[in-house]
Amino acid sequence: MDKLVIRGGRRISGSITASGSKNSSLPIIAATLLNKNGTFTLHRIPDLKDITTFTQLLRYLGADIAFSDNTLKISSRNIKNLQAPYELVKKMRASIYVLGPMLARFGHARVSFPGGCAFGPRPIDLHLMAMEKLGATITIKTGFIDATIQGEKLHGGNIDFPVSSVGATGNALMAAVLAEGTTTINNAAAEPEIETLCNFLMAMGAKIKGTGTTELEIEGVKSLDAIEFHNVFDRIETGTLLAAAAITEGNITIHDVEPEQMKAVLKKFVQAGCTVDTTENSITLKSQHKLLPTDVTAKPYPAFPTDMQAQWIALMTQADGTSHITDKVYHERFQHIPELNRLGAHIEIHKNQAIVHGPKRLSGTKVMSTDLRASASLVLAGLVAEGTTEVLRVYHLDRGYEKIEIKLNNLGADISREKYNEF
Ligand code: UD1
Repeated sequence: MDKLVIRGGRRISGSITASGSKNSSLPIIAATLLNKNGTFTLHRIPDLKDITTFTQLLRYLGADIAFSDNTLKISSRNIKNLQAPYELVKKMRASIYVLGPMLARFGHARVSFPGGCAFGPRPIDLHLMAMEKLGATITIKTGFIDATIQGEKLHGGNIDFPVSSVGATGNALMAAVLAEGTTTINNAAAEPEIETLCNFLMAMGAKIKGTGTTELEIEGVKSLDAIEFHNVFDRIETGTLLAAAAITEGNITIHDVEPEQMKAVLKKFVQAGCTVDTTENSITLKSQHKLLPTDVTAKPYPAFPTDMQAQWIALMTQADGTSHITDKVYHERFQHIPELNRLGAHIEIHKNQAIVHGPKRLSGTKVMSTDLRASASLVLAGLVAEGTTEVLRVYHLDRGYEKIEIKLNNLGADISREKYNEF
């Protein structure tokens, strides 16, 4: 297995270009299943473990795929297999994204039921409810979701989500674009990744109103074209790199971003005492000597994202005072806290709130990654800790951060990737 060995105390400074968004790449790649005869060219797809896993799944279904230099060429012309097996789905819950497009195109799909998750229950009831509203019959047997439709096509329907869900909104959209008639989605997720999916589907020829809002209206079309598309930047990678500069009293400029999408996060950096300047496509952050405590609540977009919660807690260990960080999306997403405390932080958990008492001098030791963003918070802590921090099980980090140690080293960090055996 790989670990990251971080020699802390170095300032993160300089300029860097953001990678493409992981969480918009996945539904975009899934949406290529909707086209019968062409080849897509997708630019700015990050080279990550989650992308490899997802393309492995699409290859298994029958797609032809070539991926190099962040450009993915994909044709779903020859899909033969309508079953997503456990071995691939268990590696990544987002595999459920193939359900909607396969059902819309073939009238049938079998997807292994995704398992649990390191940070609490993650049901898929809303995905299934949406498919049923569009005319699918769902049965769950032998660990598989079996979805079929009676006639040839799904039909339009009214989908009212009781909870805002990125994945269920994406699946509903991909099913509705080829359905007969009109579909409305109420309380749709308005995350930029869903807006990007809408833009992608519209470029293919889909008819969608309300893009970027929580009320979507989709008029089904007969067929969708293969297209060339440029993916958007990764707002979570960007937020993590900004936090790396903030926690080390650094000074960073990140290019090729859309600052508008990061308003809630940038506002918190300012409250924490950092100076933030933006242009149309760049963000510059300068960190002050003393960070200030902040209260943050993670909620659906446009609020502060749950995917930045763990990194923010790491940052607040260095703030001068007590911070309260509440997660209203995933109430149990706090696996990083015991590990941060092992580095010397003083963080308590009360229900879905972390209370961070800062500033605390951190000192390096071995810590264990438990999920993607938890790993990122441990790397941030390692950057500021005295001595050497070893972040074990770094495969979690590799799922979602492209060349993270290379990027950080180019900005002044001292991180090496080493092999180790777990006993
Ligand atoms: C996506 C992101 C993930 C992020 C999350 C929330 C991808 C690949 N992953 O995950 O990084 O943390 O959004 O921004 O884009 N829920 C249900 N039933 C469902 C589906 C969801 O109750 O059928 C609940 C979840 O338990 C959670 C909330 O809805 O409390 C939001 O989850 P959701 O937006 O669906 O997360 P994902 O799409 O899985």
